Amino acid sequence: MEELDSRFVGRTFDDFLFRPQRGIGESRRVVDLGTRLTLRLRLGLPIVSANMDSVTEDEMARAVALEGGIGIVHRALAIGQQAEMVRRVKRSHGAVIEDPWRIPRGTTIGEAKTLARKHSINALLVEETAGSGVLAGLLTARDLPWRTEDDVLPVDEFMTPAGRLLTSAPGVSEEEAERLMFRRRVERLPLVDANRRIQGLITMRDLNYLRDRRFSAKDAKGRLLVGAAIGARGDFIERAAALVEAEADCLVIDIAHGHSNIMGDAVEALRARFDGIQLICGNVATGEGARYLADRGADAIKVGVGPGRGCRTRLETAAGVPQLQAIREAWCAVGESVPIIADGGVTHDKDLFLALVCGASAIMLGSALSGTDESPGRVIEDPATHTKKKIYRGMTSPQAVFQSLYDEENQAELDEALETPAEGQEIQVPYKGSVADVLRRMRGHLQSSVSYAGESTLAAARSKVLPDPFKYLVPLSEASRNESFVR
Ligand code: XMP
Repeated sequence: MEELDSRFVGRTFDDFLFRPQRGIGESRRVVDLGTRLTLRLRLGLPIVSANMDSVTEDEMARAVALEGGIGIVHRALAIGQQAEMVRRVKRSHGAVIEDPWRIPRGTTIGEAKTLARKHSINALLVEETAGSGVLAGLLTARDLPWRTEDDVLPVDEFMTPAGRLLTSAPGVSEEEAERLMFRRRVERLPLVDANRRIQGLITMRDLNYLRDRRFSAKDAKGRLLVGAAIGARGDFIERAAALVEAEADCLVIDIAHGHSNIMGDAVEALRARFDGIQLICGNVATGEGARYLADRGADAIKVGVGPGRGCRTRLETAAGVPQLQAIREAWCAVGESVPIIADGGVTHDKDLFLALVCGASAIMLGSALSGTDESPGRVIEDPATHTKKKIYRGMTSPQAVFQSLYDEENQAELDEALETPAEGQEIQVPYKGSVADVLRRMRGHLQSSVSYAGESTLAAARSKVLPDPFKYLVPLSEASRNESFVR
């Protein structure tokens, strides 16, 4: 355990710049940003989208994982809904869709259209009878008749029957699948066993997509990584069971005060019940808190009390530690023995780099990823200024609490929430377009930061700076802060 350098006390991101080092790489664009999320999971980009109802559902999680990070699906949802979101991410954009949508032969065209529209899919496998799993054919968007009078007809009048389809055995390699599809000029390759039972589906679109995103965050089967949040009381074991079954890659035990007996008991109960699940525990803001979680077997420690944009904890309770100090304290306490995820307070891309070289392995972002196409909620247009906005809100804001409780129709919890003062708030943030653009910008800026640190990988930059950050950090005066950040 290292001692905290007193120059970190009371300090956060805007208190420092990074002293540029001699550059070594040919191009910043090849700088590798690979990092650890937990003891067992790795990312291609050190970004985690926050488990907040205005930030991460399945769409955000999918987009972030494609860019190399990971999304944590929030828990202000019924258990089944949250698990279904996890399942949707796992089903999307792996080389193999393991559990493709399927409909029985007798389904009407109208029903097939509704299903395709609801889940934004443009091809459905048809099975002989409901639940049999035996491939009868394939129905694609091109096969659907446009006349609404035909909606009552069964799909098997329009599908391509199994006998005319190109299929392959499960376990076919990506290269072979691509070669087969190209030779027959088809877009989809159903995978079937010797009894014609459906074992998966490979699509040309997914193969192209994956080729373009070499750094996507994927599991051993090539499926995107996704995490999900649980609490530490009430139905948390039941929720965890549903999420483990949906194959979430990690669970985030998400409570405001992670350095607590409640957290200790929750970790113990989860470990006893689920073997091998990666547990991210938080939040803490001190070295003692980080040590407490490491000793209880956390696979990653989430650090941050009160820096978040939608957060009022420090204002209402005085609890908190400036975020860069908190990250450094946690690192001094646990070193590299457990990855640290810095959570909250990032307002500029430079903050990401400072968090990483002072101790974090990855950074959770809320407001920075909010206001995007992939964040939940509608775009609001201000009629006076014609500017577009979206809502971002703390998870303990009155609006978020009431929404989730009304969704679950849980009157007892609603009554309790009504009596608990809020420690979060709702704000409007500018509409930012696609989150992929935001993440690519962050990737570029982080690559530049690593290059200014005189290294060609994030891992090397961290190894260089972590043992002695004040060799590289430049403390700022008010005047130099103005010179740096006021534009
Ligand atoms: P940023 O700064 O990225 O922060 O928007 C995201 C993080 O803020 C935390 N969070 C809250 N903290 N009251 C709090 O004290 C809240 O209502 C609240 N909602 C979110 C959370 O850690 C998130 O990842």
